[in-house]
Amino acid sequence: MQTKIEKISPLSALAVNNIEEVSQNGTDFLSFREKLAYANISRPDKQKEWKGARLAIKFALELISLPYPGFFKDEHGKSHPMDGYGFVSLTHTKGLAAAIFHKEMPVGIDLDFVREKVIRLGPKFLDEAEMEFLANDPLLYTIAWSAKESIFKCQGRKGISLRQNIRLEPFTIADTVVKGRVEQSEFSDHHYQVKVEHENDIVLTYTIW
Ligand SMILES: CC(C)(COP(=O)(O)OP(=O)(O)OC[C@H]1O[C@@H](n2cnc3c(N)ncnc32)[C@H](O)[C@@H]1OP(=O)(O)O)[C@@H](O)C(=O)NCCC(=O)NCCS
Repeated sequence: MQTKIEKISPLSALAVNNIEEVSQNGTDFLSFREKLAYANISRPDKQKEWKGARLAIKFALELISLPYPGFFKDEHGKSHPMDGYGFVSLTHTKGLAAAIFHKEMPVGIDLDFVREKVIRLGPKFLDEAEMEFLANDPLLYTIAWSAKESIFKCQGRKGISLRQNIRLEPFTIADTVVKGRVEQSEFSDHHYQVKVEHENDIVLTYTIW
């Protein structure tokens, strides 16, 4: 997937980084706490992914003229700006990192490679009705997985099951927005729209408002 920085609205921006392209950047921009967290990652490839995601959010913030505030993680693992302003979500996978920021609303973002094995994993994250409209297509299954992960990250709390609590409305390969909701929980009224982009074997999804 191409490296890009994109303004989604005056309130929101995202960036996708090719990790090798940005790996020459230093770590000066990180907060003190983030520098410690970075130093504690033992595997160099994981360090690069972690930094790539923070650089992605830095680039996205620059696009909407905001400084990098540093981020901390809550007890669920979700990152929040240290200055308490706005909402963020991060994702990283082999070679790629992405991040999204919104000034007013929670957000979720996810990047995944399309793999045949996602079909076998289907029953772990999909219900019967979802598997029916996904029709054993690895790309559609990956979009469904990624959309649910983006919704999961947007709501942010552990204990929400992708299979039991996150429902997707039927969609096809032509759809660029997938609708979903979190049900059977205290968040049962929450509805989400997830933007879908795919390029070669990579799927990117993120929540939009
Ligand atoms: C937390 C989770 C969403 C991370 O997704 P992932 O695909 O492993 O990894 P990604 O690179 O896409 O995302 C990692 C980022 O998610 C963020 N994250 C972690 N927990 C989070 C949470 N509870 N809410 C929001 N964001 C979270 C972090 O920023 C993390 O990046 P960092 O470690 O560099 O700070 C995932 O592990 C998870 O728990 N999924 C849902 C639970 C589930 O049902 N899983 C199994 C179903 S078969």
